[in-house]
Amino acid sequence: MRLHPARRALWLTPVTVALATCRVSAPPPPIQVPVPSTAAEAPTGFDDQSNGAVDDSIHQADQEAFDEVEEIADGLGPLYNAQACRECHQNPTSGGASQISELRVGHLGPDGRFRNADIPIARGNVVISGRTLVNDRAICPNAAFPDSEIQERVPDTETIRTTRASLNLLGDGLVEAVADETLIEIARAQRRTTRGTIRGQALYVPILEAPGETRIGRFGWKDQHASLLSFSADAYLNEMGITSRLLPDEVTTLCNTAPEPNNTTDADGLADIDRFARFLRATKAPARDTVLAATPAARRGSELFDAIGCATCHVRTLVTVAAGTALNGGTDTIPPALGEKTFHPFGDFLLHNVGTGDGIVMAMPEHYGPTVYKVVWKEFSIDSVGRTRNKVRTAPLWGVRLRPRLMHDGASLTLRDAIVRHRGEAIGVSNRFRKLTQSDQEAIIAFLKSL
Ligand code: HEC
Ligand code: HEC
Repeated sequence: MRLHPARRALWLTPVTVALATCRVSAPPPPIQVPVPSTAAEAPTGFDDQSNGAVDDSIHQADQEAFDEVEEIADGLGPLYNAQACRECHQNPTSGGASQISELRVGHLGPDGRFRNADIPIARGNVVISGRTLVNDRAICPNAAFPDSEIQERVPDTETIRTTRASLNLLGDGLVEAVADETLIEIARAQRRTTRGTIRGQALYVPILEAPGETRIGRFGWKDQHASLLSFSADAYLNEMGITSRLLPDEVTTLCNTAPEPNNTTDADGLADIDRFARFLRATKAPARDTVLAATPAARRGSELFDAIGCATCHVRTLVTVAAGTALNGGTDTIPPALGEKTFHPFGDFLLHNVGTGDGIVMAMPEHYGPTVYKVVWKEFSIDSVGRTRNKVRTAPLWGVRLRPRLMHDGASLTLRDAIVRHRGEAIGVSNRFRKLTQSDQEAIIAFLKSL
């Protein structure tokens, strides 16, 4: 197979694009974003050191907050999944991914549209609604509330069901610092170079800390958040049952004792969610296995990965905005350590239908709070959210060698299984993979094992 020569930024080279699109059977060229000459490589590593955004001592203190095991007196529950962020984000170090997966369910309404789940608790007397998440744990019944039966279970009526794997968070400060325009341009370049076969969806989502403001979502399997502070508040409430100034309402008040919001500011003026966000923003990106990456097989696999079209979605290199740029509705400013940095997530952070969609639309009250419908969010469109039903964010492949369970549901156990499971928008590309010789297929897998 002939390999594509390296190309310059796609949207700066219309001639190349025209050549690629007139040969229908040709694999799409890899998407390459323009990188300013002043840009530098972002640091990588699993060494628990700061990427330079804060001092190491601050980073260690923030990591302690991320690792801390919360108790009922701290506000844990009433419904929850685990006691610490680290319980699900730990491999190989705090902020990585893990084998823990979660349950999400819903059903179709009479109009054929997706509806969030209705989960009865308290012997059917209370219904938890506005969510797709089903919490696996509850603090009751306990000694103080022996009669409080609040465990969530999936009722037979919630017929659309999936598990969702925990995600890697290391390097996410870089992802947060990518401009909306970069993601929008990637989506355009995909449509142009594949005649619309591959068309990533960029979705505007609310920024909780800047009511009314939105950005292109990039975090979570459904791109439900664009800000790490918003995601931290969402996770604190929905994974651990701990309320904050951004999401001050408990999922249920049954057998709830701790005062609301559960978490307020400490002596430094920071709440836990501020520390989680600052911790994540200062993590280094996952490092490659440089020994494997240098082998002839992995090097050949790397070229084939681009040549057969994997890099149309699994975009190799992204670049962050300049230091000093205000993000997230002006609530966050990019520090020099995160400004104009190139990094290699092997993902476009866009939503695609690759035939694996679980039929679940993100639940807006769950992620943005029950008041979400009362705020007018710029560019936010409920119809666009509805169109994500069978889409999943391209899984960024950085650190994929550390994940034994693959895809959003964790149901693919080998890299080959994950690749051949790609259909829908990726069918042409996965067919090209199938047609490769055994040794070329193995080369791509060797390359993935080096990421
Ligand atoms: C019970 C397991 C669990 C716990 C505890 C947990 N998470 Fe997660 N986390 C997940 C899962 C599962 C996802 C993917 C969710 C989805 O999109 O459906 C995720 C996704 C994320 C993401 C998006 C990452 C990306 O790159 O897309 C962030 C950020 C995050 N979690 C932060 C946190 C923080 C901060 C805490 C602690 C307050 C926390 N999580 C606690 C399981 C957990
Ligand atoms: C149209 C966009 C697209 C193309 C082209 C594409 N992928 Fe993917 N890839 C995705 C999406 C979306 C997911 C997540 C699917 C899910 O979780 O259900 C994914 C997931 C994966 C995963 C699982 C990673 C994890 O952490 O779970 C691997 C491995 C992977 N892709 C490799 C490849 C390879 C190799 C190619 C080329 C043969 C390729 N992909 C082509 C969009 C694409």
